[in-house]
Amino acid sequence: MPLALITGGSRGVGAALAHELAGRGYRLLLCGRDTEALDRVASALPQATAVPCDLADAAQLRLLAEESARLGELSLLVNNAAVQDVYELGDLTPDEGCDRIGREIAINLTGTLQLTAHCLPLLRARPGSRIVNVTSGLAIAPKRRAAVYCATKAALRTFTRSLRYQEQAAASGVAVTEAVLPLVDTAMTAGRGSGKISPAEAARAIVRGIEGNRDEVYVGKAKLLNVLYRVSPRLSYLTTRDG
Ligand SMILES: NC(=O)c1ccc[n+]([C@@H]2O[C@H](COP(=O)([O-])OP(=O)(O)OC[C@H]3O[C@@H](n4cnc5c(N)ncnc54)[C@H](OP(=O)(O)O)[C@@H]3O)[C@@H](O)[C@H]2O)c1
Repeated sequence: MPLALITGGSRGVGAALAHELAGRGYRLLLCGRDTEALDRVASALPQATAVPCDLADAAQLRLLAEESARLGELSLLVNNAAVQDVYELGDLTPDEGCDRIGREIAINLTGTLQLTAHCLPLLRARPGSRIVNVTSGLAIAPKRRAAVYCATKAALRTFTRSLRYQEQAAASGVAVTEAVLPLVDTAMTAGRGSGKISPAEAARAIVRGIEGNRDEVYVGKAKLLNVLYRVSPRLSYLTTRDG
């Protein structure tokens, strides 16, 4: 039975993905920091294991990868966990800024890339494996008040493409997919935004993309944003700038 490792499986899109993938015969390894929430999700699913892990902690990442190896047959890594810290740089003291920038990059980018590196040999050992990196419409067109988040998602978008080239050149058999999400109704967007889709809708669209062997999955309004960006980057920027 194939194993899927989902980061940020304790709530939101990650928890919805866990439900979708459980229904498709995957064993699940779910990580996050909130152990109670993780256990709640895992205990409602067959064949799910919860491993507390802070992606900003390199030692914990290593343990998570070791647990994936121990469980065996890792064939899907979904890099879903992220945080969005909403502020303007000029509103913070330099020290505050350094701490918050470092933490957000560590979770959304450094830890995510390091976990990918840890898992790659396991994925390469199993034909038909896949890495799914969850990005955002804000990777295409950023907004003013979450500059670091937008930068990490744009970096993850570029990393995804580059890693895909590497795996294709190595003929490793590991597919690399970017899932670009629009606004989703989760804790990340609580109290702001309109026209959000549900986490279940986002998860279903991602799984359809996996099953369709897609390199890029644009979900809901992220499709429109991508088309608009191709036609007029300037107009696309206006749609997200003040969000
Ligand atoms: N919501 C949106 O509108 C939206 C739009 C575009 C893209 N996305 C992307 O969709 C993905 C899922 O977001 P969401 O909306 O489901 O957010 P969410 O409800 O806030 O969930 C975030 C998940 O990430 C985990 N996480 C946060 N910090 C972590 C850390 N240091 N180590 C390990 N896990 C950590 C959280 O678990 P713990 O708190 O237990 O650690 C939680 O499970 C993210 O990549 C996000 O950028 C979301």
